[in-house]
Amino acid sequence: MNDHMTIGIIGSGAMGAGIAQVLAVAGHPVRLLDQHAGALEKAVAGIEANLRRLVEKGQLTPDAAGLAAARLGPTTYLPDFADCELVIEAVAEDLAVKQQLFREVEPVVAPECILASNTSSLSLAAIAAACQRPERFVGLHFFNPAPLMRLVEIIPAVQTRAGLADELRALVTRWGKQPVVAQDTPGFIVNRVARPFYGEALRIMEEGLADAPTIDWALTKLGGFRMGPFALMDFIGHDVNYRVTEAVFAGFYFDPRYRPSIAQKRLLEAGYLGRKSGRGFYNYAAGAQVPAP
Ligand code: NAI
Repeated sequence: MNDHMTIGIIGSGAMGAGIAQVLAVAGHPVRLLDQHAGALEKAVAGIEANLRRLVEKGQLTPDAAGLAAARLGPTTYLPDFADCELVIEAVAEDLAVKQQLFREVEPVVAPECILASNTSSLSLAAIAAACQRPERFVGLHFFNPAPLMRLVEIIPAVQTRAGLADELRALVTRWGKQPVVAQDTPGFIVNRVARPFYGEALRIMEEGLADAPTIDWALTKLGGFRMGPFALMDFIGHDVNYRVTEAVFAGFYFDPRYRPSIAQKRLLEAGYLGRKSGRGFYNYAAGAQVPAP
């Protein structure tokens, strides 16, 4: 794994776009694939705007920003991944979707190409089991927003070859990130610790003890948290956040500590996914975060 190898990213949503930015700035040619051309356009425009902001803040030279932008290769055509030495998947948090994706990726890439999933909560062993060469598969979990959040969890599956986690640890460090190797257990480290943060806040709201803005206000203004649990769930997206809770709940044999929330499920069913759809616990349609009715 070298600093100039081509890296493919599948899924150009919040995470795929953020990871693409990190890797392009680090010097890698990046192939960014999505099934929707519109998602790719949005991702590239967002990355370019972020790069411009970094230049304005003096954190990146105009030349470096220009080179990073030029390293982005958006595509909807998987065979464009043929020369990738690492492929990172950041599509929906759904085991069957991820397994199918790697079945399609493997025939396209070289036998030694590393395959990684950005899953927040799913079993890496189960995703690897869909691969012809599961020993080259690993979890590589970034946090949102990827360009700002320094932590990256590296999660070897039971099938992952010895040594791969250490190679990735060195690579991730060269990207300016702080890697931590985690076990393949539901939610790994951070998403497991975070479940009670969301779950207890949702229970307080559902029991009518306080509403979402009050809980967020208490935690941010008085508790020292950068974001309250409801604003954070809206930021992450309820489709992603709810599915992670479901996966951790099921993964721990339905331990009631991780029970998902009906109120959050209703938001998901209504299509109120948070910031990305304009409404979640808050409304974002007017460009600001205001409590939803
Ligand atoms: P997102 O909904 O913003 O983006 C997913 C993208 O994948 C969409 O653009 C969709 O068109 C595309 N896609 C779906 N299926 C595809 C397929 N078969 N082929 C090509 N493209 C496909 O989702 P987000 O938030 O970026 O999450 C992606 C993954 O990253 C999930 O596994 C999630 O659990 C994980 N993750 C999410 C975090 C978050 O805060 N949102 C944080 C860390 C990990």
